[in-house]
Amino acid sequence: MAPVNALWFSGGTLSVIDQRKLPGEKVVLELSEVRSAAEAIRNMTVRGAPTIGVAAAYAMVLAQTKDHLSANEAAEILRATRPTANDLFVGVETVRSAWEAGGDVLAAAEAYRASIVEQCHAIGVHGAPLISKGAHVLTHCNAGALATVEWGTALAPIRVAWHEGRSPHVWVDETRPLLQGSRLTAWELREEGIPHTILADNAAGLLMQRKRVDLVIVGADRITRSGDFANKIGTYEKAILAHEHGVPFYVAAPWSTFDPTLESGNDIPIEERGREEVLTFAGVSSAPADSAAWNPAFDVTPSRLVTGFITPEGVLRPEDVRRVLKRRSEGG
Ligand code: MRU
Repeated sequence: MAPVNALWFSGGTLSVIDQRKLPGEKVVLELSEVRSAAEAIRNMTVRGAPTIGVAAAYAMVLAQTKDHLSANEAAEILRATRPTANDLFVGVETVRSAWEAGGDVLAAAEAYRASIVEQCHAIGVHGAPLISKGAHVLTHCNAGALATVEWGTALAPIRVAWHEGRSPHVWVDETRPLLQGSRLTAWELREEGIPHTILADNAAGLLMQRKRVDLVIVGADRITRSGDFANKIGTYEKAILAHEHGVPFYVAAPWSTFDPTLESGNDIPIEERGREEVLTFAGVSSAPADSAAWNPAFDVTPSRLVTGFITPEGVLRPEDVRRVLKRRSEGG
């Protein structure tokens, strides 16, 4: 079965799978104004760095055709939704600049979507050879088709390896507090019949100690020139564990996730979300309602813990990121 399609635009409306409702219900929401699209990004109806970039690109189209805002007003609304994923800013800017130049904004958004899908497929092709026959791959959060429109970043090499008959098995971190691993990654893998096992976030140490993980592949929300990167909270711990146990640790991402303007992980803005996400479990109270809670949505992993970045052009060593970003910015 083909990977799911997280969103599509037709008849002047943006349709998105409501990711808050999965795996229980597959509900499609239709968004026809920029502010409702912005709210869907903020409240994580749509989520995952490349998907929110594409959703924001289409939301710019709604802003022009339905809300009759200026390009800058629309961009401001969308940029204020979530601070960490670089893709959001790239998706907005791609359509904003076409708009300001008098171009066709729908064509710009469609081209952006197609480029993300194509890049994620290329990540799958370049990453699949890292997965040997029967390998056990650990992943964190959801970096699958739901997070990237189609294919995935971390899940793309796994999908390609699966279709090539290499029988990977996926260890799926549950990913507290919003359970993107157990709710979304497991749902995607199950839809396609790819073998997987869900584990509580704090079980990864024992798993690696028992040598049951061959490699880790995660996605990213922002990657800096130095190769430090932000991803879902808990990624840093997995990178330390992988380093301690000699397990290769890969980060898969399209170019929209790389931010050539930032030098180090300390420069990445980290989103902090509401305390209620920590004080509840799947919507049910799981702590004293008046306790304080800290809820950073992402953490930063230093480049020294990364074995390689799986990109649309191949696997980069962390020390190569700076040079490749410079070459790309010079049009090479
Ligand atoms: O808060 P989320 O669910 O949007 O966070 C998503 C992640 O951290 C993903 O791992 C990341 O966006 C990469 S998606 C290909």
